[in-house]
Amino acid sequence: TRVLVLNGPNLGRLGVREPEVYGSASYADLVAAARSWGEELGLSVEVRQTDDESELVGWLHEAVDAATHVVLNPAAFTHYSYALRDAAAQVTKAGLQLVEVHLSNPYARETFRHVSVIGPVASGTVAGFGFGSYELALRAIAGRL
Ligand code: DQA
Repeated sequence: TRVLVLNGPNLGRLGVREPEVYGSASYADLVAAARSWGEELGLSVEVRQTDDESELVGWLHEAVDAATHVVLNPAAFTHYSYALRDAAAQVTKAGLQLVEVHLSNPYARETFRHVSVIGPVASGTVAGFGFGSYELALRAIAGRL
């Protein structure tokens, strides 16, 4: 089973960007960790990152067309991108899993992070566990297969 692990804007800067919030491990470390959890769970995991909303929307369309489950960290798009929400809705309406993940716990941060426009169309959300949020999301998907 294939799973796309999609990461939105600024997540390529992990390790450099606000390490007190996001930790000191790099994006490359996240890719390696996600791949190894995938292997453990019998999932074929592909990890991608973009700062571009349109590219992220396109990847969700690709997931629908290829019947691929998704782990999505929409990053700042979480809070305002209706385009991404509409694309995410197509994934779950197609009967595929889409798990929203966050490294930090947005509810413990600024008020503008308390709203997710993705959450209502996701299968579920995991937030606040650092890289562990991705592990839990992959386990949730594996457990539903
Ligand atoms: C984030 C939380 C978002 O509010 C923020 O814009 C991010 C990262 C997280 O993983 O904690 O870029 O999605």
